[in-house]
Formats: sequence, C-alpha cells, structure tokens
Amino acid sequence: MTTSASFKKTPAWMMAIVLTLTALVACGPGKTAKEPAASAPSPAAAAAPVLAPVPPMGFNTWNKFGCDVDEKLIRETADAMAETGLLEAGYKYLVIDDCWQVDRDPSGRIIADPRRFPGGMKALADYVHSKGLKFGLYSDIGPKTCAGRPGAAGHFDVDAATYAEWGIDYIKVDWCNCDDLDAPAEYARFRDVLRATGRPIVLSLCEWGRNDPWTWAKGVGQLWRTTSDIGDDWQSVVWIAGANNCHADAAGPGGWNDPDMLEVGNGGMTFDEYKAHFSLWAVMAAPLMAGNDLRAMTEETKSILLNKEVIAVDQDPLGVQGRIVIDRGYGGQVWMKPLADGSKAVAFVNLAKGELAQYVRWSQIGIPPGPARVRDLWAHADIGVHTDQGKTFDERFEVKVPSHGVVMVRIWPGAAAK
Ligand code: GLA
Repeated sequence: MTTSASFKKTPAWMMAIVLTLTALVACGPGKTAKEPAASAPSPAAAAAPVLAPVPPMGFNTWNKFGCDVDEKLIRETADAMAETGLLEAGYKYLVIDDCWQVDRDPSGRIIADPRRFPGGMKALADYVHSKGLKFGLYSDIGPKTCAGRPGAAGHFDVDAATYAEWGIDYIKVDWCNCDDLDAPAEYARFRDVLRATGRPIVLSLCEWGRNDPWTWAKGVGQLWRTTSDIGDDWQSVVWIAGANNCHADAAGPGGWNDPDMLEVGNGGMTFDEYKAHFSLWAVMAAPLMAGNDLRAMTEETKSILLNKEVIAVDQDPLGVQGRIVIDRGYGGQVWMKPLADGSKAVAFVNLAKGELAQYVRWSQIGIPPGPARVRDLWAHADIGVHTDQGKTFDERFEVKVPSHGVVMVRIWPGAAAK
C-alpha cells in the first residue's frame, strides 16, 4: 500500500504541482463531515466509555519489523518502553501488527504462531500489562489479512471473545481482501462484538481512507486511517500530511484521523525531516504510534519521541486537529492547532530545498493584537514576548526554517500569561 515509491524519481517542481493538486482533489466538497452520517451511535454507544479522549499513543511492530515478530521482541519492547521513559511520556499501547496468527482450530478459534509465540498470547499480554502497558493485536475484516494470515471474516464473535480472554486492549482491523463489502456496516459489526465482551478495547480502523471513514467512523472506532501506507521517506510524510489535513473537522475526543504510524528512527529521513514528521503528526492530533526499534534508539530519536512539549500539543484535551493556515506555494506551510489553555501551537514547515524565512501575523492564527509569549518547542526555550500590531515588518513573528524541517512554537496571548 505504499504510495511513496512513485515519488522518488519525480522532479521537485512536478512534485509541488502533484502535491498541490492532490491536496485540492482530496479536499474537494463532500469529503469531510462534522458528524458521522452513515451510522449514528446506538444507545449502547452513548453509554460506552470514551476510549480515546486524546489520540492513542504507543508502538506498533509493522513499520520496522513487518512479519518478523515474536514474543522475545514484544517482551524486550515492553521493557524498553518502561525503561526509556516512553511509557511515562504517554506511549502505552504495545501492538503486534500482522503475522502473529497462523491458523484456526477446528472450533474456529484463532491460533497464534506456536513457534514465534510459544508462551501464547495470554501470557504475553500479562507480561505487557505487568509493565503498566496496554496490549494490542491486529486482524482484518476479510478472510485473510494483508500478509495472507487468517482474517476475521465469519469469526467476529469468536475472535472478540478470544481477544477479551487474552486481555487485549486495542485491535487494529485491516481491510485487505474485502472486495465489495460495506465498510461502515462491517466495522460497526466488529465494534458491536467487541462491546459484547464487556472489555474496553480500542478499535483502530485501517481501510486507508477508501470509504471516506471521516464521514462515518466516529462512534465506530477510536481512530481511522485516512491514507494508504506511510513510507520511511519525506515525500510520503508530506503527501500524507496534505491528505490528512483535509479531514480535520472529523477529528475530536473519542475519534481521530490516523495518518499512519510513525517512521521516526527508522533511518530513511534526516533528523530535521523526522522532527518535522513528528511535529506534523502532533499538530494534526494524530495517534502517535512509534514504528522503530525501541530497544536501540539513538539520542536523536529519543529527543524526538520523548519531546514532551510536542507530545503535549498532540495530547491537548481540547482535541482539535490543527490544519494548514498558510500555504505559501514555494514550500512554506504554517500549521496551527488551538489548545485548551487558549494558546496556539504553530508549526512552520519547509518543504523547499533551501532554508526559508517564514512569518505569521497574529491575525492569521487567531491571536488577538498585542503582546504574546512565544516558546520554541524543539529548542525548549522561551523566545520572548512578541507583538504584532500590523504596522511594521518588525512586528510580525518571523523564523528561519531549515530545508525539509520545522520550527514549532507555542504562543500564549498576553505578555504575562504563563
Ligand atoms: C496494510 C496496513 C499496514 C499493515 C499491513 C500488514 O498494508 O495498512 O498498516 O498493517 O497491512 O500486512
């Protein structure tokens, strides 16, 4: 499902046109709805607890390990999440993606790969829980997963019961081999069997934005993919962010647009690009699912995944998905996310090949005229009280942004505000 390969040989100017057109097409009328249209929450839904008041955070095996998953990896990852500070920073779901499952027994019960998971899923879930983490698995609405393993078709009930018995807290459900199935109806059925278990289980929808989930998935799952798979390269990040931006209205406490899992630390991008990737995901209130080897992180990777000030933007309780407020065409983008305390997170992103000076006026980001305190969320430094009275060049807030990089700030209106 990777979209990035075709971008690699494309000249930059053509890319800019493609990206702009893609964004315009994806943002066309009728693609975004504020309320779920197809499936209004049932009375049971109204009574159910809000499972994701803020975007889920954790780790998923797929981006780094693909099918090479086993219980040693999961135990070591659980240890790493507890020991590196990731859990404390909010990464609490440890999710095994595709390939943990091999077959079904004669009664239809799903079987975890006995060679790779000899201790079984229940014992593994217990271990993950003993670290203070939550445990997640992966399935597919169709008869086979994307990697050809047994999917859930025909077995929704038995699977939900099995997962609850094992103690899972999160399930990602893919859409491979689903042909002409009705996505809202199928995922609602999956939600209902999960609910029937009585165990709170986050449902992560993964139909890649094929069926406009932003119009119906709220109330069905807690997060829904909006695009095809991410790749560990800058063009993929830029393309996905542009597409995900179009559906900002649909996100909010309890239901989030999912632009796919993080690639931070996987080696295909520069430090600046990974910082921009992480900033974009945070400003978009995206689920933050690390996708790198957490047992062997460089200091640079840790400084990104553990940046508490950027994480706080993502996890802000107001739950608004930030969006592009200025698109300068030549590569400068300004993204803004309003936060619960009245401040604004602003990410200046540079898609161009060279450094760009970018500026913003308070009126463009909803800050009232007058002084405002600005803090740099990557330098972890206050950068003064700035004013924008709309009179002179000096009075607008301007920053230099590295190529394929970001400057991310938080701005509090009023000089004295903390
Ligand atoms: C699809 C999903 C990915 C991953 C793989 C596993 O491509 O979009 O995120 O789960 O399947 O096979």
